[in-house]
Amino acid sequence: MNISILGLGYVGVVSAGCLASRGHKIIGVDVNQLKVDMMNEGLSPIVEKDLPELLWEARQKNLLYATISVDEAIRDSELSIVCVGTPSRANGSLNTKYIEAVCEQIGTSLREKEEPHIVVFRSTMLPGTMRETIIPRLEKFSGKKQNEGFYAAFNPEFLRESTAVYDFNNPPKTVVGVDSDDIAKKIFSLYEGVPGPMIKTKIEIAEMVKYIDNNFHALKITFANEVGHICKNIGLDSHEVMDIFMQDTKLNISRAYLKPGFAFGGSCLPKDLRAINYMAKMLDLETPLLNSLLHSNNVQILNAIKKIMAFGKRKIGIAGFSFKEGTDDLRESPIVEVIETLIGKGYDLKLYDRSVSLAKLMGANKEYINNHIPHIASLMVDSLDELLDDREVIIIGNKDEEFTKLLTEAKDDQIIFDLVRIGDASNVEKRYEGICW
Ligand SMILES: NC(=O)c1ccc[n+]([C@@H]2O[C@H](COP(=O)([O-])OP(=O)(O)OC[C@H]3O[C@@H](n4cnc5c(N)ncnc54)[C@H](O)[C@@H]3O)[C@@H](O)[C@H]2O)c1
Repeated sequence: MNISILGLGYVGVVSAGCLASRGHKIIGVDVNQLKVDMMNEGLSPIVEKDLPELLWEARQKNLLYATISVDEAIRDSELSIVCVGTPSRANGSLNTKYIEAVCEQIGTSLREKEEPHIVVFRSTMLPGTMRETIIPRLEKFSGKKQNEGFYAAFNPEFLRESTAVYDFNNPPKTVVGVDSDDIAKKIFSLYEGVPGPMIKTKIEIAEMVKYIDNNFHALKITFANEVGHICKNIGLDSHEVMDIFMQDTKLNISRAYLKPGFAFGGSCLPKDLRAINYMAKMLDLETPLLNSLLHSNNVQILNAIKKIMAFGKRKIGIAGFSFKEGTDDLRESPIVEVIETLIGKGYDLKLYDRSVSLAKLMGANKEYINNHIPHIASLMVDSLDELLDDREVIIIGNKDEEFTKLLTEAKDDQIIFDLVRIGDASNVEKRYEGICW
């Protein structure tokens, strides 16, 4: 394929070398004449393992040349890859001025072109930037419409500097956000044979995925470093600790706990966080990440309370209030906090949880329920139907499968507020609210 690459920085030059090595004919574009000249001499403008050889070979095979002319590049290619920088402004916001300028240039060049052109954006952009800024600009300057006169897609880049060529050929995944299946196929064909899943999704989701990836990587590094400081200060080898931590692929290095939902609770997580934070404090260590977790969790509890109050209804039913389904443990259940706040504000509450009902009669938690939360126990009803009977809002508080029935049997005037994403809500879509989806 004839491909133009706009922006010959890290991402652009690596993409140029790697795509040329796959037999594509590349036209590189940059505003920096020095970079253009270097590329035309077969030299790499950046230091990156294996890249000089790829660029040199591409030049020898006549598969690569560079120019400062966007017009020329658009005219002579069927697909463009945009890799200009998207730096931070001083206040932390995303500076889109380079990407906007390049859209104006591409748009203007597209005016003269008859065949529909594909523009693939690899520059990292906040969700919504493509739809709100990029595509309208391309439309304005080209006088053409997205998905008719041109196709704009978002294809986030996951390479890491210093291993960029290897990463280009071995990505963890390939994600293409695009409106059209045919265009997705064409973009995937650029990466044919690379490992990892090929995922077509909405443009906005693809934009978000890139941020979540990088934010999560930052979270992992920071977490490991805080663990490292605590370990060092109590004479433990942090690497040995983390080696054991990483061998747990069920709960630690796994899919567990990564779907948005309600606050954590129960008898262990809050208590153990408090203990480790206290220990860090005693060691005179700053562990801002570990310190922030309980605060963030409390904010999630407040989010639920605010949402419930915003419904403006007084008759509330809570389906499931132990901290997770299949347990009667109410210690530090975050929903118990929600319930207590609502009681304090005078709401009319009915509560149902079959595990807690059993415990109330005979379980190990009977004493806890009777002595610590009698005000909650007195609001309990014996079946889900009693909530369906007269509640204006029903809150789904844990994943007891019995609660899926609420998504089909709720009355037309009942609001369902779901803290756990219990299932397919299409039947109650208009009256359904998820806490963070
Ligand atoms: N560097 C990485 O490891 C990496 C990895 C993944 C994603 N990204 C993202 O990719 C994008 C590019 O990153 P980078 O590190 O390659 O940037 P960079 O700053 O190294 O390079 C950007 C290039 O774009 C050129 N440019 C600016 N305006 C132009 C225009 N109108 N026409 C043509 N060229 C123009 C600049 O001269 C520069 O050479 C960013 O959004 C970044 O967040 C970077």
